[in-house]
Amino acid sequence: MLRSMRIFLLLAAVSLILLGSNVHAADTSRQRLSMDFGWKFLAGDPADAQQSGFDDSGWQAVDLPHDWSIYGTFDRESPARGGGAYLPTGVGWYRKKFLLPDSFKGRLISIEFDGVYENSEVWINGHWLGKRPFGYIGFQYDLTQFLNFNQQPNVLAVRVDNSFQPNSRWYSGSGIYRHTWLRITDPLCISPWGVYVISPAVSETGATIEVITNVANNRKTPANFSLVTTILDQNGREVQTRGNDGALDAGETGSIAQEIRIDNPNLWSVQSPYLYTLRSTLSIGDETIDQCDTPIGIRSIEFNSDKGFLLNGIPVKLNGVCLHGDGGSVGAAVPEGVWLRRLRLLKEMGCNAIRTSHNPPAPEFLDLCDRLGFLVMDEAFDEWEAGKTLGGYHRFFKEWSQRDLVDFIHRDRNHPSVVLWSAGNEISEQVLPGGVDVLRHLVETFHREDPTRCVTAACDRIFAEPLSATPEFPQLLDVVGYNYVDRWLDRADKYYSVDRQLFPQRKFIGTESISMGGIRGDYDDLFYNLAAEQPILPPPPTTQPAEGLQATPRRRFRSLPASNRRINVEQLWKFVRTNDYVSGDFMWTGIDYLGEAFWPARSATFGVLDTCGFPKDGYYFYQSQWTSDPVLHLFPHWNWPGREGQIIPVMCYTNCDTVELIVNGKSFGTKGYEFPVQGMLEDYGNYPARSRVVRTTSDLHLEWDVPYEPGTLEAIGKMDGKVVATQQIRTTGAAASIGLSTDKPLLVSDGRDVAHLTLKIVDADQQTVPTAGNEITLEIDGPGKIIGMDNGNPTDHDSFKSNHHKAFNGLCLAIVQTSREPGQIHVTARSPGLHPATVDLISRGGEEIPTLP
Ligand code: GAL
Repeated sequence: MLRSMRIFLLLAAVSLILLGSNVHAADTSRQRLSMDFGWKFLAGDPADAQQSGFDDSGWQAVDLPHDWSIYGTFDRESPARGGGAYLPTGVGWYRKKFLLPDSFKGRLISIEFDGVYENSEVWINGHWLGKRPFGYIGFQYDLTQFLNFNQQPNVLAVRVDNSFQPNSRWYSGSGIYRHTWLRITDPLCISPWGVYVISPAVSETGATIEVITNVANNRKTPANFSLVTTILDQNGREVQTRGNDGALDAGETGSIAQEIRIDNPNLWSVQSPYLYTLRSTLSIGDETIDQCDTPIGIRSIEFNSDKGFLLNGIPVKLNGVCLHGDGGSVGAAVPEGVWLRRLRLLKEMGCNAIRTSHNPPAPEFLDLCDRLGFLVMDEAFDEWEAGKTLGGYHRFFKEWSQRDLVDFIHRDRNHPSVVLWSAGNEISEQVLPGGVDVLRHLVETFHREDPTRCVTAACDRIFAEPLSATPEFPQLLDVVGYNYVDRWLDRADKYYSVDRQLFPQRKFIGTESISMGGIRGDYDDLFYNLAAEQPILPPPPTTQPAEGLQATPRRRFRSLPASNRRINVEQLWKFVRTNDYVSGDFMWTGIDYLGEAFWPARSATFGVLDTCGFPKDGYYFYQSQWTSDPVLHLFPHWNWPGREGQIIPVMCYTNCDTVELIVNGKSFGTKGYEFPVQGMLEDYGNYPARSRVVRTTSDLHLEWDVPYEPGTLEAIGKMDGKVVATQQIRTTGAAASIGLSTDKPLLVSDGRDVAHLTLKIVDADQQTVPTAGNEITLEIDGPGKIIGMDNGNPTDHDSFKSNHHKAFNGLCLAIVQTSREPGQIHVTARSPGLHPATVDLISRGGEEIPTLP
């Protein structure tokens, strides 16, 4: 680690343990100011736009994060094609003018970008600072020598080139779509990503923390300093402190290694993601020169060839989902609040693990995973040297991948949530001669920069005759990642067991697997045999397909009928749950995402949450398997005019022992399913073993054939003979009004905070009309704006940025963002023929992110 630098050998005698000393955050001399506000933007490529004096008065005023693609019109001919959601891309420029206070003179000043898609070039006051092709990596430039003071303006200019298309298999967005920061420090400072914390020995009674702090002396003179590292608990109380002295010549960089012991630590876990703060303070004499905080979690992780994944010594099955980085209607510029809502929904489903497919995520995404207790498989690439798309990362791999990878590891290696690195997804080099050499180099880099975590790759060709992975490829991985283990025909029902026999020492994980997927509220599959491509029952003359859903090439859109998918998912999950050696599984995907679509669709529907974050039925399958509180979810809806007398399968996902279905007062019988517990460890960290009593099916769902008549479906779920859950579904009346609710009535007036408004089309009894597609228009007054509107319909072509949208299967979503003014935000929703609805949000001061004055 940090080999190229001078490492201070610190003898115990020179290190001093400072118990009980007081270090205050207020002493810090470092500032990190948001640079997100007050930019100018132009979609185009004018000459000389990097020059300070360039006239940008006609450009659009924007705040960051900003994704210009998401404002565009869906166009079948767009160069990005279905991968890019049929949205525009191209070249764009950003400029920001700013003044610096004279108090910053003599300081080291850097600009940080958390992510720019893609091929960014940056200038300050006309000086070219550099370029960065990879769209998912954070980077920074030292501005110090080029800056103006004394009320003279500075101009940052950024050219973003996303014109070489197609370059992605999913929606990437275009622009400065993540946060930007100005970092101001003393020239003697802790380097960027300069603190590395590991906990090599962890138990409930004690933990050893090792910290390596990288210090850079950019002063013109040598410096003698002290570095104090303090660990604070969640209440800000000091737990332990260690201090060391150091010396650096002018222009020199070095690192200090410290070891800290903590007794009876609060361990970080999925259920209790306890975070400490590690505060690093650099001082000369009594003066604090630099200070920075690193959130840390104390936990041990292990992948074991017999027991799977162990967190703090306890087996925890990774109940994982793959996620792309877009946030639905907000595109790639995703406010933290959008992720917070989405991650909470996944947590409630019982999901405990996320794969950041197929690229480094936003830094705040990992912060949320740390805080909420998710286990993350952090993925680097989708392409190495052999490309998948014409303009993809393969163009940059040879020149940039080492730098991108090292930066990625340094950026993410302190996150307790990150438990596994992934070198890539379905990489073509699996089967190519020389592919193992590329992999070896990447794995060595991971091990060198972070010896504490295992490395995997998501392999889809381990046994895919005739073009299988070279045998050495999986052998080089610490944990072998299998994509779609059920796809290899002769092993379809054996899953990992063949390789388990062949390679008893192998550590297994399902890096990508089939999921329930489908379109929210769409039950076409109940009446249509996709395999035979013909209707099972003729559609009744009065029934229309779900309003607004356009016909899409079915086979490409949804590769398997829902019933087959359901059985495959259930069978795979039974195997994963009962075979301890399988560490877990990441199903594709947790949430629908933009792109990877076939016209007229503009988004993919593999998720259990749609692009709005509304749960589909499949969500409750996972909840019934991954959580232990009672779950009972009955479907489909019960509005089938014209199908009177036709048999409709009524289905239920549940973890109850038994469920009785009653239709219009008549019992259709009590059912239960068997869950295999044989071979399962008794003491899984994330769910206890339960015994089952009633067995009417070996599937993991219940099903009754019910001749349709309008009325009420009622399900009664019991555990241990007691009623623990009930659900009613009624045939609704006609749409009468709009139901409007918010997840967050009190907001922070920081220009970032968001509220999600759920809009429902309801009948006179306030029941959601499950097929309604009424058009809703929003009016908004006050210090806020609508930054996204969506309905989860993959074929809807209304702009995400407009203030009107049709409901889809009864629902619609709007995301409101505050401005930096406090006040009341009043939203009215109208639809012709329906009673309108209103909601008031209060936006007021709160904890704000420091911004350049
Ligand atoms: C996988 C691939 C994903 C996505 C998925 C769609 O093979 O890794 O990125 O394309 O297929 O089914």
